[in-house]
Amino acid sequence: MAKQTFGSKAGLIAATVGSAVGLGNIWRFPAEVQANGGGAFLLVYILCVFLLGVPVMMGEFALGRGGRGDTISVYRRLAPGKPWWLTGVLGLLASYTILSFYLVVAGWTLEYLVSSVTGDLYATIPGDAPGSSAQFAHRMAEYVATPVKPVVFTILLIVINAVVLLGGVQKGIEKMSNLLMPVLFLLLILFCCVSLSLPEAGEGVTFFLKPDFSKITPGVCIDALGQAFFSLSLGMGTLVTYSSYFPKDTRLGRTAVTVSALDLLVALMMGIVIFPAVMSFGLANESFEGATLVFVTLPEVFMQMPGTQAWSILFFLLLLIAAVTSTISLAEVAVAFAADRYFKGNRRKSLLLVLLPLLIVSPLCSLSNGVLSHVTIFGQTLFNFLDTFSTNILLPLVGLTMCIYLGWFAPRGFLEEELTNRGAIRSLWPRVAMVLLRYVAPLLILLIFISRFA
Ligand code: PFF
Repeated sequence: MAKQTFGSKAGLIAATVGSAVGLGNIWRFPAEVQANGGGAFLLVYILCVFLLGVPVMMGEFALGRGGRGDTISVYRRLAPGKPWWLTGVLGLLASYTILSFYLVVAGWTLEYLVSSVTGDLYATIPGDAPGSSAQFAHRMAEYVATPVKPVVFTILLIVINAVVLLGGVQKGIEKMSNLLMPVLFLLLILFCCVSLSLPEAGEGVTFFLKPDFSKITPGVCIDALGQAFFSLSLGMGTLVTYSSYFPKDTRLGRTAVTVSALDLLVALMMGIVIFPAVMSFGLANESFEGATLVFVTLPEVFMQMPGTQAWSILFFLLLLIAAVTSTISLAEVAVAFAADRYFKGNRRKSLLLVLLPLLIVSPLCSLSNGVLSHVTIFGQTLFNFLDTFSTNILLPLVGLTMCIYLGWFAPRGFLEEELTNRGAIRSLWPRVAMVLLRYVAPLLILLIFISRFA
């Protein structure tokens, strides 16, 4: 079967940005900004995106398109007989692990969307002051711990993934991204405009954008590095897999810069949405930890605005789009691998193999927030264990070995050939990327890694 490719440049960018833009940008980024002292974090984050994110992304793109295969077979093709394919195995494991709990959270966003439509989200709870943070915190805690509903919504998300992925690269992933990504940006622009028109907008923007250098500590830098890695979808095989669908004439350097810049732009826009809003409604001192920002603080904000339900619907739609496009890219890693390796390109069979186990694992993950919370792995619930194992261990490990492979062991001239489209374009990127991949990125990733255990 001929290898599938994306049909257009815009489609390829939309799909890759769709993978990168996710819950990481919408809630994790503002939470990190808040926890790390505002503008100081932002500055370091931007540096991390360009010093670490862009070169590693270029490396993943080169691997995927040059190796023309899934995240494991690219290494087998480029380094036959060597153990580098294990990096691909770890990438596959990372994407599948993240997918299993990301689906649960994506399910929450769908439920919050539905209950915004029905109005149930804003129904008062006996004993709590209407519209208070206690009301929404209780709702959230009760909701995630109930056994049935979150499982049903998780399964619905698996079904959505199945439908899109069944359509294949052009008619499934690309079509969905072309449709949803513009909607996501329009919604973001709308929210930015509304937030900037609020009374305390100036203060919020200042908190977010004004760098306070005294707050830059090693801890802040490491958090920013980790956030950049997660937000740009690095180290999970998704970018390798998607770039194996890039046509031969795609400019990989430019694409990596565009995708990283758009991902950063979404994070920046979310900062512009969140900080003016929480300042204006007197919620700036609430902690955004965990999922609080989107499921507790923002409903409080909407409650205080005219048109509560409409804003709530639009916001959870935005969140759902961000989450779904990311889950699709995570699932595609395994679907592409199984289709290539076991089913001669038959996506239907490969989808079954990939999604059926998720019908068990993801519901278990959901239940680990409630009835199964007493079952622990290394002292953590299944949900938390999969989260920390994948983000703290697998991601840096895959990123590190990939950089070492590309920087030191890949066939001579491989990166240059890919980044210049075999000499067809002139570009400074191969040299710059090589230095960053050889020395800078491994060092920085090593730092994240060590800090997780320190
Ligand atoms: N980048 C996504 C986010 O910011 O939420 C998460 C993600 C998606 C990570 C896809 C990894 C991935 F392969």
